[in-house]
Amino acid sequence: MIVLGIETSCDETAVAISKDYNILHSEVSTQTIHRKYGGVVPEIASREHEKLLNDMIHYTLSKVKILKSEIDGIAVTQGPGLAGTLITGVSFAKGLASGLKCDIIGVNHLEAHIFANFLADPNLEYPFICLLVSGGHTQIWLVKGLRDYKLMGETRDDAAGEAFDKGARILGLGYPGGPEIEMLSKKGDEKSIVFPKALMQNKNLEFSFSGIKTSLLYYIESHEVLCKEDVAASYQAAIIDTLITKLKWAMDKTNCKTCVIAGGVAANKRLRKFVKQKIKNEKVIFPKLSLCTDNAAMIAYLGELYLRRGYSSKIDFPVLPNMKLA
Ligand code: KG4
Ligand code: ZN
Repeated sequence: MIVLGIETSCDETAVAISKDYNILHSEVSTQTIHRKYGGVVPEIASREHEKLLNDMIHYTLSKVKILKSEIDGIAVTQGPGLAGTLITGVSFAKGLASGLKCDIIGVNHLEAHIFANFLADPNLEYPFICLLVSGGHTQIWLVKGLRDYKLMGETRDDAAGEAFDKGARILGLGYPGGPEIEMLSKKGDEKSIVFPKALMQNKNLEFSFSGIKTSLLYYIESHEVLCKEDVAASYQAAIIDTLITKLKWAMDKTNCKTCVIAGGVAANKRLRKFVKQKIKNEKVIFPKLSLCTDNAAMIAYLGELYLRRGYSSKIDFPVLPNMKLA
């Protein structure tokens, strides 16, 4: 089965082709235009998707030598995400599916992040714990099977990615903040400053990252001389250690022997290194870096999984900017 995946939930325009669960090609265009605004401008993002989609699809198909007429189904991100950018992708996908008379399926972006781990390890077995850490979400899921997910804990306020992005802005760094803080941290001493870690009692699986951002702000305002590298490293360590500790607690609680990490923050090298140290007796899986941040390979893969099981969407399905996972 050949499935075309389309992702436009935020500022990455992405297209990929999955054939029999193999990703033949994955194309991602990150809209750098937003950097000068310090965050994503939704109207600009929608316009950029409109400009790019057609050419990216043609390029991807020509790269893998597949004709449009050979496409069996189209998978497109239905939500969550920015309403305008989702509409751009979904409208485009619907037009294409109508023209080609093929199936279409609206895919949950968060679910696709989780399932990107099957591309990392096709032998991944249920049940497993997923730490889902993106720009808008920080959640721990018990994944028992396709469409069988139990939320074990999530953030009460900011997401981990958001804490990186806001922290970077406070430090005068660029957007997105995660890679910027990670880069600066390399030359810093992460033990130099103690930033607060919230909700660390009683094996609580909820998160809160708004306090650490405020304490970063206080720290910057109350110190005339700063070693930004030390600040970045200490800030990163506090966020990452919190994530790892709670992931371990979730593993202990469920007795699960496998965990996966999903979403943009999973690209963080300190997280990747220390999670393997802390959770050394169980299996830990990460997607490769290009499959952690937003991409269409995960959309095409999950779309194929659903289409093969007989699921598809009606052609008039709506976008769901606040789409939930369970
Ligand atoms: O999953 P994603 O690409 O988009 C959403 O669905 O939100 O996640 C984006 C988030 C941003 O907050 C970004 O700062 C963070 O992932 N991120 C990172 C790293 N790369 C991306 N955070 C920490 N370290 C990184 N290397
Ligand atoms: Zn994402």
